Parts: sequence; structure tokens; C-alpha cells
Amino acid sequence: MYSKIIGAGFYVPDNMVKNEFFESFLDTNDEWISSRTGIKSRFFSKGENTSDLGTKAAEMALDESGLKADELDMIVFATMTPDMYMPSTACIVKKNIGAEKAFAFDIGAACSGFMYALTVASQFIENGSVRNALVIGGEVMSKALDFSDRSTAVLFGDGAGAVVLAASQEPGIIKSYLGAKDDSKLSLVLEALPVENPFVEKAEGSTNKLAMEGREVFKFSTQVVGQAIDEVLKDTGYGYEDVKMIIPHQANYRLIDYAIGKNKNLQDKFYLNVDRYGNTSAGSVAIALSEVRQKGLLKPGDLIILLGFGGGFTWGSLLIKI
Ligand code: ACO
Repeated sequence: MYSKIIGAGFYVPDNMVKNEFFESFLDTNDEWISSRTGIKSRFFSKGENTSDLGTKAAEMALDESGLKADELDMIVFATMTPDMYMPSTACIVKKNIGAEKAFAFDIGAACSGFMYALTVASQFIENGSVRNALVIGGEVMSKALDFSDRSTAVLFGDGAGAVVLAASQEPGIIKSYLGAKDDSKLSLVLEALPVENPFVEKAEGSTNKLAMEGREVFKFSTQVVGQAIDEVLKDTGYGYEDVKMIIPHQANYRLIDYAIGKNKNLQDKFYLNVDRYGNTSAGSVAIALSEVRQKGLLKPGDLIILLGFGGGFTWGSLLIKI
């Protein structure tokens, strides 16, 4: 049994923010941001939370799939910016869409989250435990940004994407590959609650804003992009030439370009939309996948690779037949 994508959707807040926005309060400019990252604009929430974005993406994915929300067996939400620790964002979406019988939980693997969530959900389908699953990746990154830090504030955006997976005799998800390794220098950090209780007076120096050591992240990310593509193709009988499109985590243009390196023949296969959305972390691959389907860039039988990398460190890839 395989799991197949039968619908996809995405949603971003109705508030497009161009690079010039940052020039009034940060020592930065459009030229620096564009040339270092390829980002021209992103969307920032004016109050919608992660579950709101995920709900709208889910509704669009359900529409395309033809499934009704109350037919869903399972909901997985990948995010590092949940509305709350409890209930999970997946449970809030379940309530919003009326997925009465679905079980629901969140997965945290930062920018690789959608790859992890798809892999987990597809295992449930492939082993026969469920017949279908709604998988969402989404973030309101703007609530985690320190808007006085030019090295991070300009990179990220808010948004969510979703797919509906269903059991199928035909592939489907052919293979997935996941990885993780210690980010010993803590180059990508978003802290949760500090330990403060009757035995600890005050946690020192804790923030709840994202912090990043850009060069370390660049080094890590450019190492794993090629590896994740090689690993997901290994032992499948397929090669680069068979792949129609690679949809990577939309971190930035320069990073992807560097990671492709000498393999320039792969360049045309990479779908990038980071110029319009910025880095939406767990949302990015899901949004891009939905966008290419909406644009009619894929047809049944096409082979694609989804590819994520990010905090943890974590990374992952999936080889999928449309
Ligand atoms: N505007 C102007 N200057 C800036 C800005 C900005 N927005 N941000 C940083 N700078 C400054 C720094 O303060 C530094 O100044 P200094 O030299 O005086 O200390 C200088 O620019 C660094 O410049 P470069 O060395 O040219 O920058 P670099 O080439 O390292 O590019 C970048 C920085 C784009 C962040 C790069 O390291 C990178 O792409 N890293 C990957 C980070 C990333 O994409 N993270 C996303 C989240 S993680 C993920 O999704 C996997």
C-alpha cells in the first residue's frame, strides 16, 4: 500500500511586506537583502495565528481532494510556532474544520517539519492503520522574530501549506529519508518556557525570540542538500534525470545555488518562491508544493523530490510520484 497526495492547499496572511519596510527601523536595505537571500517580500500576520493559517490551507487541500473533513482519520501539524503548547495546533484545526473522528498531533522539526510529518503520516497509511491523513506545515514566524535583529528579521515570513494523503495501490510516496544531528553550537534556537519554579528564582538570559548564527546554518544546510537528494534516490531505480522537479525548503536563493554547486544541471529542476514568501520554515515546502500544483506545473506520473533542512539540526527528503 502506498500513500498518495490527493489534494493540496496553502494560505498566507493578506499583508505583503516588502524589504523596504525594514529600512525605516533597521540598518539594512533592499539591495543587501535581495543580493544575500533573493527575498523581495514576505507576508506577516495582522493577528491570525498558526492554526488560522493551517485551517485555511487545510480547507483548500480538502476541497481539491474531494474528501470531507469528517472523513479524515488523522491530522499532523508541523510547526515550531504553535498557538499554544496545549491544545496542539492540530487539535485546534481539527475543531475548526470539523474533523470529528481524526486523531491529531503536532510535530516539531523546524524547517524540516513538513518532511517529518509527511513521513510519519505516510507510515500510518502504508501499514494500514488509517486510510487518509491531513498533513499541514505552517508558521507565524513573525511572532518569534526579534524585530531589532537585522540578521533574522528580514529572512522569515508567515504562511501554511497542507496536503491530503490517501491510501493507494499506485505510488505515491516512494521513499523518504530523514536525518538529525546535534547543533552543538546552538546556531538556530527558539527557546520555550524557562525553568522557573519555587526552586529556581529567575532564569538568566532566556528569550522567546529566534536567534541564528547565519554562517553555521549556511555551512550545515549546503552540506545536506546534495546528500538528501542522493539518499532518497538510492536503491529506488531512479536517477536525477527521472526527476521532474525538486522542491526545497525555501531558506534563500544563494544557499540553494551554493548547495547545488557543480551539479548545475539540477538547477533548472529547483522550484523557488522564497522571493515572494521569505522563509516560512515548516510552511515553505508545503506552500511551494501547493503552488506548483495550482499553476499546473506537474502532471500525473511526474517524479518530484521534497527536501527540507533546518534547526535541530534536522533534514529530510521524499521521492514522490504525482
Ligand atoms: N542588512 C544589512 N547587513 C546585515 C543584515 C541585513 N539584514 N544582516 C546581517 N548583516 C550584516 C552582519 O551584521 C554582518 O556585519 P559585520 O560583518 O559588520 O559583522 C554582515 O552583514 C555579514 O555579511 P556577510 O558576511 O556578507 O553575510 P553572509 O554572506 O554571511 O550572509 C546570511 C548572511 C544571508 C544570513 C547567510 O549567512 C545565510 O544565508 N545563512 C543561512 C541562514 C538562513 O537562511 N537561515 C534561515 C533559517 S535556517 C533555515 O531555514 C535552514
